[in-house]
Amino acid sequence: MLRSRITGTGSYTPEKTLSNFDLEKMVDTSDEWITERTGIKERKIAKDAQTASDLAVGASKAAIQRAGIQPKHIDMIIVATVTGDMPMPSTASLLQSKLGAKNAAAFDLNAACSGFLYGLSVADSFIRAKSFKKILLVGSEILSRFTDWEDRATCVLFGDGAGAVIVEPTEQDRGIISVHLHSEGNLWESLCLPGGGSKHPPSKETIEKRLHYIKMKGNEVFKIAVRTLERLVTDTLKANKIKPSQLTLLIPHQANLRIIQATAKRLDLPMDKVVVNLDKYGNTSSASIPIALDEAVRTGRVRDGDYILLEAFGGGLTWASALIKW
Ligand code: ACO
Repeated sequence: MLRSRITGTGSYTPEKTLSNFDLEKMVDTSDEWITERTGIKERKIAKDAQTASDLAVGASKAAIQRAGIQPKHIDMIIVATVTGDMPMPSTASLLQSKLGAKNAAAFDLNAACSGFLYGLSVADSFIRAKSFKKILLVGSEILSRFTDWEDRATCVLFGDGAGAVIVEPTEQDRGIISVHLHSEGNLWESLCLPGGGSKHPPSKETIEKRLHYIKMKGNEVFKIAVRTLERLVTDTLKANKIKPSQLTLLIPHQANLRIIQATAKRLDLPMDKVVVNLDKYGNTSSASIPIALDEAVRTGRVRDGDYILLEAFGGGLTWASALIKW
């Protein structure tokens, strides 16, 4: 049976670290509050000159190398991002140019924090349809540039980074088993970045109203996320007749430790089977899962034949999961 599988992973995070203690000097918050409510201790912040495609280059080069291929072999580039370099061209096109991946089709995809898993579904479908053979999928975000550094309710949450994978066909009994995608557009206002698009084009007014920054009704999103993810992970395993005890790892989107713990509890999974790195990076939206996956692969937490479950929840609202046999 033809499946797609991840043959290489990579990640890149900027050098500069912004700790909770640094944030204490910027807004009325405390390390204690941020740690207790979110689990985040610090996050990475890109340099002024860096763009989402620059971060994507670092992650992509590592994934390309680990897959043992060259940029010219890539036939499609998908970048999941909500903080791309510019509205046009796509960040994927800019990445193609920077990598010299001259034989690739390229486009961006926006499903906010679920973007990487939406991208994985697209890559998987193209591979199984035999239309493409070597797909570079990247989640890359510079959220710090769209964060309202005067809003303590959101500025403590986000960070910058990129993660990448190469997806290729396989005839072996392994790879992407299933991907599950969902959206509830009626709830878009609970998490959005309202300014800069065709609804509110950039103007003096949009700047004065701070519409170019992320707005989130955190507590509302929190409750929906917990409920939705608990259902999503159990449904994903049931659909594939896999028991939670068969899972080697859960790799969740890194938004909030309490959300992650609730999902793990629902599956009766001990926390040592859950990848958590939000203490170091905060919420990097579409980049969080591929960064966590890359760290898990590089530290030997994922081995051939292991079942791993990925899940995400974010703006849209969107949510998604993927079951992989590594
Ligand atoms: N420091 C200190 N106090 C704060 C801070 C802060 N940084 N931020 C908020 N508070 C205060 C609030 O003002 C409030 O005070 P009040 O009770 O006097 O009104 C109190 O803390 C509690 O605020 P809540 O918002 O109810 O706190 P909550 O426990 O819900 O935690 C958080 C907030 C961390 C944002 C949480 O709701 C959350 O993680 N939400 C989900 C985020 C998420 O998963 N988003 C989806 C993915 S993101 C994406 O797609 C880009």
